[in-house]
Amino acid sequence: MAEMRKPPTAPRHVAIIMDGNGRWAAARGRPRAFGHRQGVEALRKTVRAAGDLGVEQLTVFSFSTENWRRPAEEVDALFELLRMYVTADLDKLASEGVNIQAIGRRDGLGRDLLEIIERAEERTRDNDQFKLVIAFNYGGRDELVRAAQRAAEAHDGDLSGLDEAGFERFLDTKGSPDPDLVIRTSGEHRISNFLLWQAAYSEFVFMDVLWPDFDEASLKMAIEEYAMRERRYGGVDG
Ligand code: FPP
Repeated sequence: MAEMRKPPTAPRHVAIIMDGNGRWAAARGRPRAFGHRQGVEALRKTVRAAGDLGVEQLTVFSFSTENWRRPAEEVDALFELLRMYVTADLDKLASEGVNIQAIGRRDGLGRDLLEIIERAEERTRDNDQFKLVIAFNYGGRDELVRAAQRAAEAHDGDLSGLDEAGFERFLDTKGSPDPDLVIRTSGEHRISNFLLWQAAYSEFVFMDVLWPDFDEASLKMAIEEYAMRERRYGGVDG
């Protein structure tokens, strides 16, 4: 008799493309930055909900290498929001055992923001209750190119013996499991240069909700959808 599969569990690692802040603000006749500010509130709710639902890691796409093409005012607002979020929430997150990490290009971020990020990473390094990874100034292709450069440097230019596990050690995400579930909000069905290597086998759930309206119920729905797919997969190999 076929071995019973374990009942579906919560995904260990959820990654989110938090899309739709601009449309949410426009629908209210407000500037795009207003949508991003509300997006931070949704992020706070989601971190809490993820922990409650048994998720161990959340990776969120906060600023892409392509977002530099937006008006300077909006870029500034996104930088300011990251600064504000990490500064305002660090004590609480640290005391709750959250390990904070940032992935993405660090050059071009500015000294003050870099210091805030490094301080948060350093202070929460040994925390193991939950991992929050903020992708900021991040692009999947950019990460792969930087990883290739680091690998070449570490291997004195001879990559002939490099395999997948060996290459992974040079990615920004080294030490993290691949995302089990990738959620994209706002009805768009694209990966947009997010976690290109890491999402190779992830389940994708696309939701119509705009990111500022995302909450615990939305996360639950995405996890239920993920669990259903797992069950279907379990059904074919009996
Ligand atoms: C996409 O919405 C969202 C972003 C480009 C930024 C995501 C940022 C946040 C949720 C808040 C910032 C959080 C931190 C930690 C810095 P969009 O602007 O592309 O929306 P649209 O597609 O409706 O225009």
